[in-house]
Amino acid sequence: MNSSYEHVVALTAEHVRAKLAGEPTGHDWFHTERVWRNAVRIGTEEGADLFVVQLAALLHDIANWKFSDDETAAAREAESWLRGIGVADATIAHVCDIIARLSFKGAGVEDAVTSLEGRVVQDADRLDALGAIGIARAFAYGGYKHRLIHDPRIPPQLHATFEEYKNSTGTTINHFYEKLLLLKDRMHTRTARRMAEERHRFMEEFLKQFHREWKGEV
Ligand code: NI
Repeated sequence: MNSSYEHVVALTAEHVRAKLAGEPTGHDWFHTERVWRNAVRIGTEEGADLFVVQLAALLHDIANWKFSDDETAAAREAESWLRGIGVADATIAHVCDIIARLSFKGAGVEDAVTSLEGRVVQDADRLDALGAIGIARAFAYGGYKHRLIHDPRIPPQLHATFEEYKNSTGTTINHFYEKLLLLKDRMHTRTARRMAEERHRFMEEFLKQFHREWKGEV
């Protein structure tokens, strides 16, 4: 590790913190900070290139397609930022490739990340969609999208294409069955799989209690 490595990471963190401050949908700076922290932990255990891991984790939600309707916006914005602070071309290419492939695109759509660093960052991002924080973020995002909390008449759907997933108008409770409960088995690294276990169990517990209360059983 050298001083320019640390300097680039610190500058990037500062840039993203300023950009995402006050973002209201669960993709705020603190989400990025948790993903960054988990990515360093997973990347260290898995022996990944921590420079690429940190830059991709920090920049992954800089312009999320969920809000800009453009999947490539984050990668493009990351590229211009990294170019502006003098990061080497090969590193920029790797970081932007990871960012472009990162999002969950539906239960039936395969993951597209290829490198170890990409798998590490995708796992770290997904861990933040699980557990108590995952629950909080799901309802924050559902509110932002004007979604119902729950409607027992609407069954969950396992989306076969990204278009279907993206245009889904389902409820937040269905989002657990359509995405969040599927993530544990889609973790790429052993480290993240282990970290996902407890968070997954907590969500199952929450849903069990939710449905019991819904029916007036408790
Ligand atoms: Ni994210």
